[in-house]
Amino acid sequence: MPDRSGIFAGDDPFAIARAWLAEAETSEPNDPNAIALATVDETGLPNSRMVLLKEIEDDAFVFYTNYQSAKARELDQAGKAAFVMHWKTLRRQIRVRGLIAREDGAKADEYFRSRSLKSRLGAWASQQSQPLESRAALLAEVAKVTAKQGPNPARPPFWGGYRLAPLEIEFWADGAFRLHDRFRWRRTELSANWEVVRLNP
Ligand SMILES: Cc1cc2nc3c(=O)[nH]c(=O)nc-3n(C[C@H](O)[C@H](O)[C@H](O)COP(=O)(O)O)c2cc1C
Repeated sequence: MPDRSGIFAGDDPFAIARAWLAEAETSEPNDPNAIALATVDETGLPNSRMVLLKEIEDDAFVFYTNYQSAKARELDQAGKAAFVMHWKTLRRQIRVRGLIAREDGAKADEYFRSRSLKSRLGAWASQQSQPLESRAALLAEVAKVTAKQGPNPARPPFWGGYRLAPLEIEFWADGAFRLHDRFRWRRTELSANWEVVRLNP
């Protein structure tokens, strides 16, 4: 095991990620939980977009989206994804690669319920990633679902979470003169032990 101290210390990469995110929450001006989520499409062409990381569980990272979006198609088809989060205020990044599964049960219901009513109705109204005639057409759709769904809309069947179970997590922190610190945690399968190595910057 390489010598890891300070912000890199500990036996649990999820705990380290949680601690870094908690620090970023006190320093970032906006969306400290934003991640750049990378997928590949059916031709192998990479794709990426920001989403919000909603939970760091004991063994996985969870985010939410529309199941009919481009990203959902790519996630479902490949069953794999990667993401990176970068905090300018901390000059740190975390990179994650791993296996994808849907979270469309009670946990997704609970998270959906925690969102503001307007956000819940927005989820019902948006056919994410599909062509849209105009903003007015979207607002008309919001009015339609508002009348139909009432004040307590259930989670749409086409909206829910994804859980990324990592095979690899890399913690990176800026060092003077580009001599950055990098530690890569890797496991060959989800049930295997982590192997940690220090990488050249
Ligand atoms: C900071 C930020 C956070 C975002 N969070 C989410 C999110 O949590 N879920 C989501 O579906 N889209 C989110 N988006 C929008 C996505 O980046 C993207 O535009 C949308 O999901 C459609 O992507 P797709 O066509 O690749 O499926 C966010 C955008 C930004 C800039």
